[in-house]
Amino acid sequence: MDTPARLTIRRPDDWHVHLRDGAVLAGVAPHTARQFARAIVMPNLSPPVTTVAAARGYRERIVAAAPGFTPLMTAYLTDATDAGELVRGQAEGVFAAAKLYPANATTGSAHGVNDIARLMPVLAAMEKIGLPLLIHGEVTDSAVDIFDREAVFIERHLAGIVRELPGLKVVFEHITTAQAVDFVESAGANVAATITPQHLHLNRNALFEGGIRPHAYCLPVAKREVHRLALRRAATSGSAKYFLGTDSAPHAVSAKEAACGCAGIFNAAYALESYAAVFEEEDALGRLEAFASQNGPAFYGLPRNEGTVTLVREDHVVPDIIEAGGTPIVPFHAGETLRWKIA
Ligand code: NCD
Ligand code: ZN
Repeated sequence: MDTPARLTIRRPDDWHVHLRDGAVLAGVAPHTARQFARAIVMPNLSPPVTTVAAARGYRERIVAAAPGFTPLMTAYLTDATDAGELVRGQAEGVFAAAKLYPANATTGSAHGVNDIARLMPVLAAMEKIGLPLLIHGEVTDSAVDIFDREAVFIERHLAGIVRELPGLKVVFEHITTAQAVDFVESAGANVAATITPQHLHLNRNALFEGGIRPHAYCLPVAKREVHRLALRRAATSGSAKYFLGTDSAPHAVSAKEAACGCAGIFNAAYALESYAAVFEEEDALGRLEAFASQNGPAFYGLPRNEGTVTLVREDHVVPDIIEAGGTPIVPFHAGETLRWKIA
């Protein structure tokens, strides 16, 4: 198929993003808002966003940083979460979803859930009111190989949650394995997944190319090539179960390039262009709009955005560093040439 020189799609949304707070928020939010009308905003601030009041305040700070942009707020689930707070937050139009981090699974998850079994009453309340559960699907058992933690999470936890609460809307976030794709495929329409650009571009070799590469490190960590290929097939399949979620997770260069560098890839600045490259390589540009602009709102029960965004075929080099409110951050694809550019 000939590649068109321009591609116009309905304005997309990002169904999983970390915007941080303070000066960094002011620096990164405009990058997301340039491309996306709305985004599901992760609550792993310090302290985490666990209450309606905290989410409301955070929402105001985001809108101040990116006027016109619509942040969709999430509640951070803990061992102490009160279902009543979630019900009230949804009723008041604040919470669009709740996020489950297994305790200590990733950056900013220290206050996460230690015992998922004890959270079941809260999840049952979410099922009842139709509040989606967003899951960081990795076990934290140090005896489990880090590359197996997502697949083991499915067996130990996710399969049971979905079986016991068949009406619960579940987004299996930032999936990285063929096992996750198989699980989502075999589940009902209430189970969907987000897929990041980095997991479509990188396999685990990228972490060790000529030396250790901290800017390719995020959690869940990239897996073998066979998994990347499964994710590419899923994202570009046209299935309504997969939608765009960047997991853009900015960290200062100094926090990444360290003896214990932290997990997270900042991809917000060129996210749509990055996905477009994948869809073009898979000869599926015609399916980018469903993935980016249709499947997410359909799952969340929200209207599609009005307006469009146009990508033009134009080579551009991604900068080595992006300053976000005084913090230097290395963006995904730094120094590489991207073929699509937002007009
Ligand atoms: C995220 C972060 O830095 O907040 N990091 C990451 O590697 N994705 C946390 C998360 O989503 O796991
Ligand atoms: Zn994330």
